[in-house]
Amino acid sequence: MRRREFLGKTLIGSAGLAVGASGLLTASCKGANDKVVLALIGAGPRGLVTIISCCKVNTNVTIKTVCDVNDLRSTSAVSEIEKQLGYKPLTTRNMDEVFNDKDVDAVWIATPDHWHALGTIRACQAGKDVYVEKTPNNCIWEGKKVIEAAKKYRKIVQNGFQNRSGAYTAAARDYIQGGKLGQVVHIRIYNLLGGAKWLPVPDEEIPQSLDWNRWLGPAPYRPYNPGVMTGWLNFWAYNVGTLNDASHQLDLARMIMGDPGHPKSIYGWGGNHIWNSERETPEFQSFTYDYEKFTMTCDSGNATNYMSKTPNDIRLDPTRFPEWKTNSDRIEIYGTLGVMYLGRTGGGWQVFGPGEKIVAQGGGFTPDIEHQINFIESVRSRKQPNANAEQAHLSASLVHFANIAYRTGNKQLLFDGQNEKFIDNEDANKLLKRSYRENYVVPDNV
Ligand SMILES: NC(=O)c1ccc[n+]([C@@H]2O[C@H](COP(=O)([O-])OP(=O)(O)OC[C@H]3O[C@@H](n4cnc5c(N)ncnc54)[C@H](O)[C@@H]3O)[C@@H](O)[C@H]2O)c1
Repeated sequence: MRRREFLGKTLIGSAGLAVGASGLLTASCKGANDKVVLALIGAGPRGLVTIISCCKVNTNVTIKTVCDVNDLRSTSAVSEIEKQLGYKPLTTRNMDEVFNDKDVDAVWIATPDHWHALGTIRACQAGKDVYVEKTPNNCIWEGKKVIEAAKKYRKIVQNGFQNRSGAYTAAARDYIQGGKLGQVVHIRIYNLLGGAKWLPVPDEEIPQSLDWNRWLGPAPYRPYNPGVMTGWLNFWAYNVGTLNDASHQLDLARMIMGDPGHPKSIYGWGGNHIWNSERETPEFQSFTYDYEKFTMTCDSGNATNYMSKTPNDIRLDPTRFPEWKTNSDRIEIYGTLGVMYLGRTGGGWQVFGPGEKIVAQGGGFTPDIEHQINFIESVRSRKQPNANAEQAHLSASLVHFANIAYRTGNKQLLFDGQNEKFIDNEDANKLLKRSYRENYVVPDNV
């Protein structure tokens, strides 16, 4: 089935499902086609493309406001929305205005990662549902606070782990959970991205068009630097480094394994030994998780320019499979009966047995649209979305474990999953939480 036919069927199917479930709806539920008003917070490429798509693939969903601290971004977002959706949203630099707007039902947060947890918590406190991009938080403690806020205010929080809405990823999970791969003994995750030496640039005067203080938000104050603003992936204050992308594969691996809790331990290694860049987040990392009954490794970095994510034509075509050997974000699942190759950016999955014989396969494309449909369905039905706060926290924790192992000296860390603390390692425990600037504090009591 080509993508357009699939989307047509998905839209019809999803509307039918929501109507069918209407007998279960509580007083606060919306009908299947009731209006949902969104506001975009963070109008970079990711937020803009996905919120416009969400309005196109769902019925009666509109954007009232675009909030960005960078006026250049909001101006171009407004003109793109006008071009694609036929109306001009309002603009603001201050997300509190969005939170205080009674018309807004849900916010679409696509800022850099250091704002994700605080923005989500403040939105929940203001009574808004939330779609928030990955990585969902910037430390393990923030993940717990987001879960508490979503529960306390009964808000829908969908994280940008879109693979949780894929038909092909669900089929891969069912294949494995049905025992067809035998017992899973080992999972190998790849995030072998390309890159180049990162070069710092001097600090500059803050441009008139930018609210730099709000861009920094909960992160420590530092003078304006254009290289930091565009290269935030290189700094711990704003995100998790190359594992920002690997978080998708780690989340998908957890999903197909039936969503296990925290691993028992993590062993990590990494460094800036490829380009020797003056960046904080490592250019390359390798690490191993101990899940007792299986092990999982992840290799992630900016060193392998000959590798590529699933090409666009294959991402959109469920009848084709990528060239696995050079597929930069594949997952290999080794069972006692065969090995499954699973694509993260579409590409479906294939199972190989002895003599490289293909024993089973399932095509599939990248499920961004299905994820946007699932969010709006959840907003209307009040049912948990596919990538809820609990699963997002467990998946994001894998990223933080790896970075904490690296930052504490490439050590093996033992983790007490019940109490969410490292065992006998105070250096690692200090990195479970970060400190915040006044006015931008993630509160203990949400
Ligand atoms: N799910 C996916 O597949 C996927 C793909 C790409 C990016 N992402 C995620 O999406 C997010 C955005 O990515 P991007 O490439 O568009 O980043 P970007 O840095 O280009 O854009 C972020 C925007 O947020 C704005 N911003 C910063 N602080 C703000 C604040 N306090 N209030 C309002 N706006 C603020 C910035 O000015 C900028 O315009 C990131 O978290 C990234 O990890 C997810």
